[in-house]
Amino acid sequence: MKKELSPKKQPKSTAPVEIHVLNGPNLNMLGFREPELYGSETLADLEKKLREAAKESKSRVKVRFFQTNYEGEMLDFIHSLVLGVGQKGGLGGVIINPAAWTHTSVALRDAVLMLKPVPLVEVHLTNPLEREEFRHYSFIEDIVDYRVSGMGQDGYVEALRWVIAELKKERLDVH
Ligand code: DQA
Repeated sequence: MKKELSPKKQPKSTAPVEIHVLNGPNLNMLGFREPELYGSETLADLEKKLREAAKESKSRVKVRFFQTNYEGEMLDFIHSLVLGVGQKGGLGGVIINPAAWTHTSVALRDAVLMLKPVPLVEVHLTNPLEREEFRHYSFIEDIVDYRVSGMGQDGYVEALRWVIAELKKERLDVH
């Protein structure tokens, strides 16, 4: 389905369109936390990888990062994206790994719904469907446009490529 960006989210200037990568609780501990499941690379490694992937794509996009262990802080941050606070180039897409909130939070779902006009991707490092039953349900699975799981940090790169491809389809000035 073709999506229209609302006027607030249209790029307002010549600044590159922003793609935000949001990470939920405990993901600041990547590299230290259950490395047999989540790998030995850190969150800083992930951010570097995504910045490089954005650069290699030769698209006019800026990747921005946010991680928090506090649900209210994540909600506030999503609200700021919806309202366009501090975005110079407009919101192009959102990649989110809500971590444990995936399986618990109606409030997160309600916030993510407000982001709907832009391409939305849910990412998980592991495949929750192959883990404990309480991880099988995602409160956002039916509202995101694309889902990637079980690919480790490469899954975020895949998500970024997908968002950039969507932006190109929408003929936004990211070429
Ligand atoms: C996770 C999977 C969740 O079930 C878990 O609570 C996480 C990480 C993943 O990336 O595989 O913290 O979202």
